[in-house]
Amino acid sequence: MNILAKLVFVNVLLVLASIPNVTGGATPIWRYKGDQGPEYWPGVCTTGKRQSPINIERTKIRKTFDYEPLVLVNYDRAPKKIAILNNGFTAKLTFDNSETGWSAKIQGGGLPGTYQFEYLDFHWGSKLGQGSEHTLDGISYPMEMQLVHFNTKYGDSMTTALEKSRNWYDTLAFVAVWFQLRSEDNPKLEPIIKTLEFIQNDGLKFQTPLFPLMDLLPENTEHYFRYNGSMTRPTCNEVVLWTVFRESVDISIAQLKKFRQLTFGNKRIKRILDNFRPINDLNNRPVYEIDTYGVGSTASSISAISCLTYLVFVLLLKLLM
Ligand SMILES: *[C@@H]1O[C@H](CO)[C@@H](O)[C@H](O)[C@H]1NC(C)=O
Repeated sequence: MNILAKLVFVNVLLVLASIPNVTGGATPIWRYKGDQGPEYWPGVCTTGKRQSPINIERTKIRKTFDYEPLVLVNYDRAPKKIAILNNGFTAKLTFDNSETGWSAKIQGGGLPGTYQFEYLDFHWGSKLGQGSEHTLDGISYPMEMQLVHFNTKYGDSMTTALEKSRNWYDTLAFVAVWFQLRSEDNPKLEPIIKTLEFIQNDGLKFQTPLFPLMDLLPENTEHYFRYNGSMTRPTCNEVVLWTVFRESVDISIAQLKKFRQLTFGNKRIKRILDNFRPINDLNNRPVYEIDTYGVGSTASSISAISCLTYLVFVLLLKLLM
């Protein structure tokens, strides 16, 4: 069987099971434009002073070099199952850890605790020049991925954490990754790209081939921006510590177009496009630029070893010549 046939085989039951859950038709309480658009989102979405996303202005940033490196636990291991869902707003991936005890976590890097991965999703534009939620010096990227984590000291899921934390600023940690257009396909995105056509419509769920989360991150995870903000959709809770990686991940226009083909709605089917919230006032919040390159024991011992390897290599070369 080729990969596609296998995928179809594995997923037939899943698709059948998910059909009764199709949410298309139900009236949504919010949208990205129109009379349910961001300017009409309720509660703290409008009244809050620490809302996300923001524009990151590099001239106003505080540089910090004294954090421990960000530690990504199990980001390099694939889980047993990865599900992808079209929820009418985005493509959302959940990683099943029920059988193996696999769970990805982040800590260090100035985070006040250990945060467990819950899901990831994407925000993209209808055309170039827009798509990302966070912007850098006023410039948008064509897509942004967000990895959602909850503080394990408040419980064992995002829902319990949100209930228990009393809206404290350290409840959730979101990691944002910008995507940048390249002429070549990014092969590491293929497990996701290939399955997008099976979740074309609102409410459809499917399984993707397995891959580690690391495949979706930039090579450099030591350089990032950090600020206190909120969830970027209602209910906009101001409980999120944001980590926005400086280095972006590559995507081709053909791959991006697969995201733009997803649809929502039942009777009047529309494409999911421009599913990003506009930027919000910073309101004097500090934004930090963190670079932990060379900080901490692992990083320095690795560079010491590679230095030594290099010296031995140069010596050998000289001896041979
Ligand atoms: C976030 O807010 C908390 C509580 O007000 C504060 O202690 C912390 O320094 C802030 N962190 C950042 C990155 O601004």
